[in-house]
Amino acid sequence: MKVLMCPPSHYEVVYEINVWMDKDNQVDIDRAHQQYKNLVDVYRSLGVEVMEIDQSQDLPDMVYSANYGFLDGDIFVLSNFFNEQRRREAGLAMDYLGGKGYKIKQLPNGMVFEGQGDMVKCGDKLFCGYGYRTQLDSIKELGALLGKEIVPIKLVDPRWYHLDTCFFGFADGKAFIASEAFDKDSLKAIYDNCDSIIETNEPEDIAGFACNSVAVGNKVICYRMSDKSKKAFSAEGFEVVEVDVSEFLKGGGSVRCLTLDL
Ligand code: ARG
Repeated sequence: MKVLMCPPSHYEVVYEINVWMDKDNQVDIDRAHQQYKNLVDVYRSLGVEVMEIDQSQDLPDMVYSANYGFLDGDIFVLSNFFNEQRRREAGLAMDYLGGKGYKIKQLPNGMVFEGQGDMVKCGDKLFCGYGYRTQLDSIKELGALLGKEIVPIKLVDPRWYHLDTCFFGFADGKAFIASEAFDKDSLKAIYDNCDSIIETNEPEDIAGFACNSVAVGNKVICYRMSDKSKKAFSAEGFEVVEVDVSEFLKGGGSVRCLTLDL
């Protein structure tokens, strides 16, 4: 397993583009560096290859590498960010990944797409969230570009503005979801397309960004998870590993947002 991450050299909260961000709740940069390093160490100790891209001084959200785009096979589809403040991250990701030999593709200009932040793979199915960032039209275009069926999922609560904040898909077709994040039809589409579901609306899972996890083998890495959800995972043979990324919650992201799958 290989991932791309971005050390928080210039991470701060200088604007508010999701409901979790508050300019009065500033980042402790030393703690952010320590927490980032811990997460990298956890990945490396589990055999994950971690590549790193330098953060640009004027792109404070660049630490959330999951939003640069989405890799499918050897094609990396670049994001078209919704918010002007993040748009230039895509060009830097293109230079970096293009330089490493990835085939870069782009959606037409202006078609908003926020990469892995809104894309979830569950088993062999692909889901894409819309409603806050990525647009429904972009999902159709993306499906055509990749030649794949993509299940559109409508997000209806601003706490879950990206699909990866409320839906975690496993390789075996299991899903972990915060079901209040979706409209009725989309919740049904998730049930219809995933093999088994662990559902949560526990306050600890919401505040702890529990669905914003990364799986490495049988380990589920996240910031915080409720005892109830932990029990559900342990019954399925998974061990939950909590890593403190509290400084990154201030920007509205957790473990998954900091980790782009390559
Ligand atoms: N502040 C960032 C934004 O609002 C956080 C992105 C979180 N990333 C994610 N994959 N959910 O765009």
